[in-house]
Amino acid sequence: MEKVQLKNGVCIPVAGLGTWKITDKQEMYVTIENAYNCGYRLFDTAAAYGNEMALGKALKELQLPREELVIQDKLWTTCYGYEESQEACKRTLRKLKLEYLDVYLIHWPASPKLYENWSMINAETWRGLEKLYADGYVRAIGVSNFKPHHLEELSKTAEILPHVNQIEFHPGMLQVETTAYCLDKGIQFEASSPLGNGQVLTNDILCEMAESKGVSTAALCLKWELKHGAVVIPKTTNENRLKENLQLDDFDLAEEEMGIIDSLSFCGGLGIDPDEVTNFDGL
Ligand code: A2P
Repeated sequence: MEKVQLKNGVCIPVAGLGTWKITDKQEMYVTIENAYNCGYRLFDTAAAYGNEMALGKALKELQLPREELVIQDKLWTTCYGYEESQEACKRTLRKLKLEYLDVYLIHWPASPKLYENWSMINAETWRGLEKLYADGYVRAIGVSNFKPHHLEELSKTAEILPHVNQIEFHPGMLQVETTAYCLDKGIQFEASSPLGNGQVLTNDILCEMAESKGVSTAALCLKWELKHGAVVIPKTTNENRLKENLQLDDFDLAEEEMGIIDSLSFCGGLGIDPDEVTNFDGL
């Protein structure tokens, strides 16, 4: 599997498995086993997904070689702050039964609409992640759903700039400013919900283009994302789809095809503006 190198030298695969909504222990076990056998090494979870224990149990029982794996997790919005972030990460590690994480992200920025002191909250939480990084609990640190103004503000106090920014990115959700900012600053961006939670897969233009190329619509979307420079983390529990979502090497997209997909308007996914979220339930 092809890899990208983060700014600090840590390498992560360009494609991994998202685990949002996989909460059943047996389903997690079978999915991780199948995914590993298909070639997945990057597994993405979050404290808010409520599945860290299920993932930890699966990893342990399957006895997968830890050094081969890239385990990525996210700090939830109730754990903002320096001290809180230390506790949150250690709690996450206990649940996962791991000694370290490969990538640890702040799941959502504190934003101006919800917090008057949003900037300070993000800065303090980030200082916490820097400490976890310095102490060896995490091999790389980053953020999720951060827009350029959140990142600009963070960079005023940060000692280390985020290695990663995971954002909702799929056809119909191009996020031009954020991806341009990340590419310019050497922040690796990752596409969360790269299939728009499965909803973009029924878009006529995407289906027709995929059919004409003899590939699945999912593979078409993921290829478009990779060509924009994203790391992709599609979620599926289905063995055939696990394989399909990694079959991205034997076709390409021409500039014109990229342009057609770029110009699609919103056609599925969450479509959330991080500055507008006032209730994080279910995210
Ligand atoms: P399932 O888990 O039943 O396979 P996203 O990663 O954007 O959140 O999208 C996840 C959704 O897309 C899930 O509902 C998943 O369903 C579906 N999905 C994932 N891969 C494929 C695929 N190759 N073909 C069709 N649907 C897919």
